[in-house]
Amino acid sequence: MVFGMTTRSKVTDDEIRQMKSLGRKVAALTAYDYPMTKLLDDAGIPLILVGDSLGMVVLGYPDTTHVTMAEMEHHVRAAARAQPRALLSADLPFRSYETVQDAVTNARRLIAAGAEAVKAEGGIEIIDQVKAIIAEGIPFFGHLGMLPQHVLEVGGYKVQGKVESEHQRLLQDAKALEQAGAFALVLELVTSPVAGEISTHISIPTIGIGSGKLCDGQVLVTPDLLGMLPWFSLKHVKPRLNAAEQMRRVVSEWQESVCQQAMA
Ligand code: KIV
Repeated sequence: MVFGMTTRSKVTDDEIRQMKSLGRKVAALTAYDYPMTKLLDDAGIPLILVGDSLGMVVLGYPDTTHVTMAEMEHHVRAAARAQPRALLSADLPFRSYETVQDAVTNARRLIAAGAEAVKAEGGIEIIDQVKAIIAEGIPFFGHLGMLPQHVLEVGGYKVQGKVESEHQRLLQDAKALEQAGAFALVLELVTSPVAGEISTHISIPTIGIGSGKLCDGQVLVTPDLLGMLPWFSLKHVKPRLNAAEQMRRVVSEWQESVCQQAMA
């Protein structure tokens, strides 16, 4: 026991994959730096994602399409310095995996920065890139449904799977990613019945965000869970803490105490 916690072994991609057959739900969260990675890891989160949501929740971009490889590497290095027991996955940013060669080169760069798996958005249309990444021995985490890197093309964050053609395409994409060797996949803003159907048709865990309760796990952007970003209002997440409000209160109390000292 160290500081009240039992020593736990490193989580691997295989362990995340097997959680489904063991009937264990996967709770995943995002982190972009050393302290958040350490805190999530201490809390026992088994899968931590340095997501390209970084662009919106840390870097102040309007969407994730502006995030660069250099920015991802910088934040992956910071998160990896926490040496988490959790599997540390990182997002390949927009346009960093358009060709097989780019996908492999950039996946290797994220691994060199300290990631242990990479995630990219898409299904059959990126399957050659996915296979090439896995052939390099790099664990791959899929992402289907609403694909934030395509928000400008599709014109918003829209729920996927409402029409039959989308429903069938999602099922085919999920099966293709499973067959290619992905260890798990995110389902973002997929209708709950379609997310449930995908979950029963593939053997790897589906990790939902805004996709209902029928997935094999859930992932959230940690600042959304903690109520750190009151200027974003999201339907799929109810903050469990009002961190922004508490920070404002503490900061003004402290400011007041400093100003009173100066006048005394
Ligand atoms: O970028 C990100 O944080 C993500 C999660 C929302 C799954 O892709």
